[in-house]
Amino acid sequence: MNDKAITVGPGFDFAFCPVLDEMIQTRLITGRSGKRFHPGALSTSNNLHMLRHLQLSLKPARTLEVGLCFGSSCLLFTATHREMGRQAGRQHMALDPYQKEAWDDSGLLAIERAGLSEYLDFRPQLSSVVLPRLLENGEQFDLIYVDGSHLFEDVFIDAYYTSRLLSEGGVVAFDDCRDAHVAKVMQFIRRNHSDALEELDLSPFRADQGKSVKYRVARLMGKTQMRAFRRVGTLSRPYNAPLHNF
Ligand SMILES: C[S@@+](CC[C@H](N)C(=O)[O-])C[C@H]1O[C@@H](n2cnc3c(N)ncnc32)[C@H](O)[C@@H]1O
Repeated sequence: MNDKAITVGPGFDFAFCPVLDEMIQTRLITGRSGKRFHPGALSTSNNLHMLRHLQLSLKPARTLEVGLCFGSSCLLFTATHREMGRQAGRQHMALDPYQKEAWDDSGLLAIERAGLSEYLDFRPQLSSVVLPRLLENGEQFDLIYVDGSHLFEDVFIDAYYTSRLLSEGGVVAFDDCRDAHVAKVMQFIRRNHSDALEELDLSPFRADQGKSVKYRVARLMGKTQMRAFRRVGTLSRPYNAPLHNF
């Protein structure tokens, strides 16, 4: 898990969810039994800002995330559903098998403190177990955030299933795309699924509108931290489809 710096700078406003705002400002995370954590695994303010504006723009009926941890992205999704006037109906699903054992239920506690539990459908299992079941049940999501295990094999499985769980026009976003494991999966998608998954320009969703030189260079080099794809077609490929190197 990367130790990501949290930057609260101009353009970031998390006042729509006081519990999230407090988490970001104080950088204090406490679990159910009182255990304290260093919030290195929180999503960055940049990512949270982009996810928030993606959600406000796409107005997804259902959202899903892999990796609950301290709950910062979960607070964001659930609070934004509430803010959009949706009645609580567990429309956000979060998966994390280690929530209790490793994170002392800190993510679930944050959601409870924010009064958002009814917006959340939490599954305490591996994504490799839950995602295939969701697909089998014909479930669909309009916005998905993948920020669970960062091992190539796990991210590949997450990418395989989440892209197939997307509704038409739905978006899947991946964190830590500069990580070698995640980057490899991103390359696979770009080289082999470009007809069905169109990479989304996230600049309009950033606080700086993608204008910073650092971001523009990172984008040109394909080295931005978060990358997202919109489903624009069917993902099934013929068994003899060519494999484009990645
Ligand atoms: C980087 S943290 C997620 C941070 C979270 N998005 C936030 O903003 O607070 C990654 C989380 O993924 C969970 N995780 C690791 N492997 C997983 C898997 N195979 N399936 C689901 N979750 C997993 C970890 O327990 C950890 O809580």
